Amino acid sequence: MASRGQILNGREVADRLIGNVADAVANHRDQGGRAPGLAVVLVGDDPASEVYVSNKVRACERAGIVSVHHRLPHGIGRGELLALIDALNRDPEIDGILVQLPLPAHLDERAVTARIDPAKDVDGFHPINLGRLACRDPALRPCTPRGVMTLLAAHGIDPKGGHAVVVGASNIVGRPLALELLLAGATVTVAHRFTRDLESHVRSAELLCVAVGKPGVVDPAWIADGAVVVDIGISRQPDGRLCGDVDFAAAAPRAAWITPVPGGVGPMTVATLMQNTAEAAGLVVQAP
Ligand code: GUN
Repeated sequence: MASRGQILNGREVADRLIGNVADAVANHRDQGGRAPGLAVVLVGDDPASEVYVSNKVRACERAGIVSVHHRLPHGIGRGELLALIDALNRDPEIDGILVQLPLPAHLDERAVTARIDPAKDVDGFHPINLGRLACRDPALRPCTPRGVMTLLAAHGIDPKGGHAVVVGASNIVGRPLALELLLAGATVTVAHRFTRDLESHVRSAELLCVAVGKPGVVDPAWIADGAVVVDIGISRQPDGRLCGDVDFAAAAPRAAWITPVPGGVGPMTVATLMQNTAEAAGLVVQAP
């Protein structure tokens, strides 16, 4: 019988990808170029966002990317935030701009995202970048979906022609991931909160990607024998440990391949941000 429960090792692939970014940056600097610059904007003091941002800043150090961290108070006004984005758009030393989401409720995420120069939108959330992904002309691509595609490719998994089911239809993960999979030639189903009979969709998935942020949303008994399972959810259990949307221990014996949480998709998101920043600076990064 074919082996089951093989690990899609995001930590390892992410390390290789960051190493490739560091090589590209070092080469560029050897030829007299400047290090890429990433501006990270954090509004307020959401503890989860603080952790994500500090991971991103640390990855910049490893990749040789200069990070400039802008911490803004929770109560900052829309005009002030947009003025900062305008200044970063004009700054010749800044190649990438990332505004950590979610923003406080009084700020309009759509307006903020759309204000970033699409050529510096290393999150890939600008409507122009999402539109280009939708019409098969990708430019800067959202980090988590692109990271999932890189993780699959690094393990020799090609979604082309297979049935991929994406559970969750968020703007930052589910929707762009469906577009990535479509671009890669998969037959794609997107399930979401209004989907009737989630079970039957999951049972037919050869590649199952779950991005809801709710542990247990998919019953492991639904997973088809030999499916590839990508768990993009991340939640904190009452005991403080992190867990995904899928019960790993129950799903692994059914899955051919599966991502752990932590150590699966999470590190790929951060490494892909480094890749996008280097590419926004005009560098060429080797696939891991
Ligand atoms: N919040 C959760 N995920 C992300 C992400 O990938 N980028 C940004 N900017 N904010 C997020």
